[in-house]
Amino acid sequence: MPQRVQDQEQRAGVQVASSNFLTDNPALYEQQFPDPGHVAARFVDDVVRRFGGPDAGSLLDIGCGTGRDARYWSQRGRDVAGLDSSERMVEYARRQCPDGEFVVADMRSFALERRFDVITCLDSALLYCHTNEDLDGFLQLCRAHLVQRGLLVAEMRNGAFFLGNTELLDGVRERTVEWDGVGYRSRTTLWIDHAAQLLRRRRIWDWPGCPEPLDQRSAWRLLFPLELRSYLERAGFEVLAVFDEPGPRTDSPWHADAPLSEALAGDRLHFVARACGAGGAV
Ligand SMILES: C[S@@+](CC[C@H](N)C(=O)[O-])C[C@H]1O[C@@H](n2cnc3c(N)ncnc32)[C@H](O)[C@@H]1O
Repeated sequence: MPQRVQDQEQRAGVQVASSNFLTDNPALYEQQFPDPGHVAARFVDDVVRRFGGPDAGSLLDIGCGTGRDARYWSQRGRDVAGLDSSERMVEYARRQCPDGEFVVADMRSFALERRFDVITCLDSALLYCHTNEDLDGFLQLCRAHLVQRGLLVAEMRNGAFFLGNTELLDGVRERTVEWDGVGYRSRTTLWIDHAAQLLRRRRIWDWPGCPEPLDQRSAWRLLFPLELRSYLERAGFEVLAVFDEPGPRTDSPWHADAPLSEALAGDRLHFVARACGAGGAV
């Protein structure tokens, strides 16, 4: 890394030489996507209760990020584990949630040698499974790591939203987030790669004194609700609910007794699925 970039990193307290500026800087991630009311974690507790899952017991959060949801569940009596491909996120999660068990692993190939009552995969983490093989592999691993009748709960972007809806694809979205006295600006462009069925993202970061802007790429699989059902059923799940509203990241606020909309035109997609049969080896 060039010396001036290292100097900048030390001054601002951030890791800049990364392929994903946000996942390599977990505190900045929480600043960019705050959830002070723990809506995401409460959403999971509520749907697990609604679909007959346990209030306590074990929970694995896949793509656990900073561990803030894990800490919430742990403080309320769940035995939590988390998995993420980012070492920085896992280190941070271990500090935030000392009673949890966190591992650096790829969601497409993990093996934890235990089963859980609940598995969660929130904020589009599932959509890092880009190919059909990735998706099949991931869901089979989830099935194998769940007890019989265990629940898989996920929340993500909705591929069907993009049918006739271009509001997220038009122009560049600019945002500045303050962290540690520095304003970090991001400029984000999204477009659809139709052949790969991916929503692709280019995000350029800069901040005062930044030696050179960071230009980073990412992508999410675009999944349609009926397609998702089919993957889940093939992997040994009974689909209990698929809905777009409300959820932790929808305009309509989440509450425990909310009716679940099956219109499926909204920009978020949520599902609850129950593990059937014995499942494979862990
Ligand atoms: C949008 S963040 C969501 C974090 C957290 N679940 C939340 O809701 O705040 C997605 C997370 O998935 C992780 N991730 C991306 N690809 C992954 C993979 N192949 N295996 C495991 N984790 C992955 C990223 O490092 C990141 O922490």
